[in-house]
Amino acid sequence: MLSYIIFGLCTCVAYTQDISWTWLSGKAVANEPVSKDQPGGRSGAAFWQQKDKQALWLFGGETPVGHDQPSVKNDLWRFSHGQWSLVNDGQSPDAPPGRQLAAACGLDDSFFVLFGGLGNNPQAQGEKVEDQDLLGDTWIFGLENNKWYTLEEFQKTEGAAFVNGSVPEARGDMAFWCQPGDTMSIFGGFGKNKTLYHDLWTFDLKTLKWEESTLSVSIPDNSKFASHLEYPTARSGSTTWIVGKRLFLWGGNILPTNFRKKHLMIGNTGDLWEYNQTSDTWAYRLGPRIACTTPGKYGEQGTADAENMPGCRRRAAAWVDIHGNLWMFGGDGVDDSQESVSVFKHSKLLSDVWHFDTVTFLWTWKGGSQQGEQKGVFGDIGQHSSDAHPGSRCEPVVWDSSVYNDEERRERKYFYIFGGVGHDLNGHDGYLNDVWMFDTNMDTSVLRNAPYAGPSI
Ligand SMILES: *[C@@H]1O[C@H](CO)[C@@H](O)[C@H](O)[C@H]1NC(C)=O
Ligand SMILES: *[C@@H]1O[C@H](CO)[C@@H](O)[C@H](O)[C@H]1NC(C)=O
Ligand SMILES: *[C@@H]1O[C@H](CO)[C@@H](O)[C@H](O)[C@H]1NC(C)=O
Repeated sequence: MLSYIIFGLCTCVAYTQDISWTWLSGKAVANEPVSKDQPGGRSGAAFWQQKDKQALWLFGGETPVGHDQPSVKNDLWRFSHGQWSLVNDGQSPDAPPGRQLAAACGLDDSFFVLFGGLGNNPQAQGEKVEDQDLLGDTWIFGLENNKWYTLEEFQKTEGAAFVNGSVPEARGDMAFWCQPGDTMSIFGGFGKNKTLYHDLWTFDLKTLKWEESTLSVSIPDNSKFASHLEYPTARSGSTTWIVGKRLFLWGGNILPTNFRKKHLMIGNTGDLWEYNQTSDTWAYRLGPRIACTTPGKYGEQGTADAENMPGCRRRAAAWVDIHGNLWMFGGDGVDDSQESVSVFKHSKLLSDVWHFDTVTFLWTWKGGSQQGEQKGVFGDIGQHSSDAHPGSRCEPVVWDSSVYNDEERRERKYFYIFGGVGHDLNGHDGYLNDVWMFDTNMDTSVLRNAPYAGPSI
C-alpha cells in the first residue's frame, strides 16, 4: 500500500507493506532436535518475558522423540539479544517435571513462577487427558542464583511465613495473564475426570499466595454451559491479552472431549470477554458464545467492520500494540473455506493476522492467508522480505520488544514468535523452532500519532 512517511523536512513517499515478517533464527524444517545453542522444535512451552533485561524465558513444551511419539520436556532456556542459552537442562533432581501448556509469570530481576500444565502420559500421547497428566504444582525459578524451588522452599528462603492456603486444582491449557510485577491470573483449562474448568485464580507475586476470585467461587462447578451468565463458559486453549487492568480472553475450546491431539473442529468458539481485575467482573463483548464451525468473516483486508469475525479457534498467538489494541496470529480452528464445515472434520492450522480495537470493539483482518494449512515462506535469515511469513501453527511462544525511535519520536514495538506445532517450509506438519519478528509499526492503526508512554514494562 502507498504510505507517506514524514522524516523532518522530507516528505517521502514509499511503497510499504502494512505488516511484515522476518525470519530471525531456528530451522525452516519441522522436528529439529535440540542443540547446544537452540531449543529443538516444540509446542506449548511455558514462557515469561523479563522486560527489564529484554529476555524471554522458555520452559519445556512438547517435542518429538521418535515417529509420532511426542514427549514433554523440562529444560529451561533464555533468549536475549537474538541468542538462546540453555540455563537448566532439567537433569538435576530439583527441576520441575516436564510439561506443556502451563502458566508462567514473574517479577523482573527476582524470580518467575510456573504453575500446572499437562505432564507426560506415554500411553495417552495427548490423545486424551487423563487425571495423571494434570499438574497442579507451583514452582519458582530464582533469577539471582538460577535455581528451581518448590513454592514451599521458596517461601522459606524469603523468610515468609509458610502459607498453606488453598491452591487451584491440577489442570492444563488454561488461560493466563501476567500483571507485570504484581500477579499471575489463570482461568479454566482441562481438569479432572475429563472436564473443563471455569474458575479464576490469582497468584500474588509479592505475598506468594494463591486466591480464587470471589465471583469465581460463586459460579457453580456444574454450570458446564453457562450462556445465561455474564461469565465465560468453561474452556481450554483461549487466547489472552492484558491491557492495564483489563484482561481479555477470546475463543478456545468448550468441549471437554476434544483433546488437543484430536484436532477436530468441534467445540471451538470465538467469543471475546473482558475481566476487570479491580471490580472482579466479567463483561461479554462480542462473538459466538457457542461452538462454531462457520467460516471466518474476513471482510476487506485492512478495513475495520462490525461484520468482521475471526473463525473460531484455539491456541492463537497474541500481542498488544503501543495503543493498547490486540493482535492475533494463527491458531487451530476454522478458516474461510465455504465447503460445508462439519464438526467431524479436522480443524485447520491458521496463519491469518487480526487486529482488535479495544475502544471501538471492531476486528480487522490485517493479513496472512484466509485459507488454513499454509507452508512457511522464509526468505533469507535475518532479511526482511515482503512475501515472508511463518507457516500456519498453534501454541507458539510469544513476546515483544520496544525501542524508542528518535527520528520518528515514537516508540516502536516489535512482536515475536518461537515454534509451535504447524507447517514448515515444505508444508510438513511438526514441531517448529523458528523465531520470527512481526513488524506492525508501519500499519496505519499503529502509525497514528501517540504520545510516547515510556518503555513498555
Ligand atoms: C498443606 O495442606 C494440605 C491440605 O490441608 C495438607 O494435606 C498438607 O500436608 C499441608 N502441607 C504442609 C507442608 O503442611
Ligand atoms: C467422573 O465422570 C463420570 C461421568 O460424568 C461420573 O459418572 C463420575 O462420577 C465422575 N467421577 C468423579 C470422581 O467425579
Ligand atoms: C473496573 O472496575 C472499576 C471499579 O468498579 C472501575 O472504576 C473501572 O472503571 C473499571 N474499568 C474498566 C476498564 O471498565
